[in-house]
Amino acid sequence: MTAPTQTPASAAGGANTASAVAASGAVSAASGSSGAAAAASSAGVPASAPAATVVERPLTHFRTLPVSVKVNGEIVGPTDLPAGLMMIDYLHEYLHLTGSRLGCGQGICHACVVIVDKPDGTSEEVRTCITGANFFNGKTIRTIEGHAKRNEAGEVVELSPIQQKFLEHFSFQCGYCTPGFVNAATVLIERLKRQPIAKDKVEQTITEALNDHICRCTGYVRYYEAVKEVVMTTPGLVKDAA
Ligand code: FES
Ligand code: FES
Repeated sequence: MTAPTQTPASAAGGANTASAVAASGAVSAASGSSGAAAAASSAGVPASAPAATVVERPLTHFRTLPVSVKVNGEIVGPTDLPAGLMMIDYLHEYLHLTGSRLGCGQGICHACVVIVDKPDGTSEEVRTCITGANFFNGKTIRTIEGHAKRNEAGEVVELSPIQQKFLEHFSFQCGYCTPGFVNAATVLIERLKRQPIAKDKVEQTITEALNDHICRCTGYVRYYEAVKEVVMTTPGLVKDAA
């Protein structure tokens, strides 16, 4: 049996060599507009390269602002942050809290929300993709990492009621939107603890609370059903619940 004279790999190498040659020809043609340089190049004589021009550019300076935030029970900062830094980037890049999801980046999908705990005891969702980190200076927030109970080693030992029901109802598929839904549902439950609603308002109230959150996988029904179960089984949220 006759040994092959060229392996597939070497054939590919040959093709690459041909392309490299073609590319170097293109570079020569593009750079050698002068006839003398082109002639020198084609004759194998190195053309004298023009001296490189050094361009001095000023370094970019960011205006910074000191930011201190209480995150999941711990005060972080003050840290000097670029004035335009979005909160989602602060969470991801400075605090390494990557559970908050950057979806649309335009304030539409609500995947990126965190919970702000206000001094009056109320809580609300805030979108971190369109809100600067400096907005949160002095504020208290919760991210998705702060919902479950953890032991001293930082291991999750118990999910929050909303997280648990989302699991039991198979509410999510890819899970990208889930941190936002957990935060929205948690804010709702906390509001109902302060202001219980009538039973005939439950469905409308849940729909309104989740309405801004976009999910591309599930059709929302299982999220809705999970939240409804928490609302209907947690004492004190519905005035005339059985
Ligand atoms: S990523 Fe913030 S609203 Fe979509
Ligand atoms: S579970 Fe995939 S986007 Fe909601």
